[in-house]
Amino acid sequence: MALAVRDVSISFGGVVAVKGMGLDISEGEIVGLIGPNGAGKTTFINCIAGTYQPSSGTVAWQGRELRGLAPHAVIRQGVARTFQNVASLHDLTVLDIVKLGAGARGGASPRDAARAFVRGEAELEAELHEAVLGPLRLSPIAAQPIQTLSYGLRKAVDLARALASRPRLLLLDEPVAGLTAQEGRQMAGVIREVRDRTRCAVLMVEHKMDVVMSTCDRIAVMAAGAKIFEGTGAEVQADPEVRRVYLGEP
Ligand SMILES: Nc1ncnc2c1ncn2[C@@H]1O[C@H](COP(=O)(O)OP(=O)(O)OP(=O)(O)O)[C@@H](O)[C@H]1O
Ligand SMILES: [Mg+2]
Repeated sequence: MALAVRDVSISFGGVVAVKGMGLDISEGEIVGLIGPNGAGKTTFINCIAGTYQPSSGTVAWQGRELRGLAPHAVIRQGVARTFQNVASLHDLTVLDIVKLGAGARGGASPRDAARAFVRGEAELEAELHEAVLGPLRLSPIAAQPIQTLSYGLRKAVDLARALASRPRLLLLDEPVAGLTAQEGRQMAGVIREVRDRTRCAVLMVEHKMDVVMSTCDRIAVMAAGAKIFEGTGAEVQADPEVRRVYLGEP
């Protein structure tokens, strides 16, 4: 198992946000994580990414424990995440942001690092255009400050930044929220294409059920901080408890 999370819990004051949560993801697998607002999905991602330190549990990634590592150290382990809310409080360009992502690449051997140094900026930019900006259709706007971009494009830039680090595990927090149906389909297509090409593991938190169903190999359902169900899309849609808690049926 590439990612094996066991019994993770975290509270804020008196509020138990995540309670005994566990999840496995294999290499090359896209696992969806759904559940009502406030269920603890973002908090769970934060516990894997090092943004929050859970009070108990283990987060084993490729046999190493991530719990206790700071976010920048987690990224160096090949784990990249995107954000539910994409802020744009600075005047960096699209290319600047994607280069920041590339700077967080982990696992480079001294030889690779030396090669990258010699290779220089122009080659890095060419590689980022081909591997990241092109597929997300961001190349034509690479020189634009992200403040000038629509919300949908900023979501795409956030994914581009994460992909530029060449992740082996990609944590996506509502990648298609706020996007048009067409933008959402395109984003989902890129996510699947990246998985097919790189065989990375993907955890995708998302409310848009059509995207979850068409993108994920398996789906876990959270409610009130805990996992209440896990199965295929068809199994999740058929489960009475899931339908009651999440899909709003009596
Ligand atoms: N830093 C924090 N301080 C206090 N409470 C927090 C913090 N982070 C999360 N929580 C609480 O933890 C619970 C879970 O929130 P979380 O954001 O993980 O839910 P979510 O499943 O991502 O919801 P949504 O679908 O709306 O994004 C909520 O009650 C939230 O208020
Ligand atoms: Mg959330």
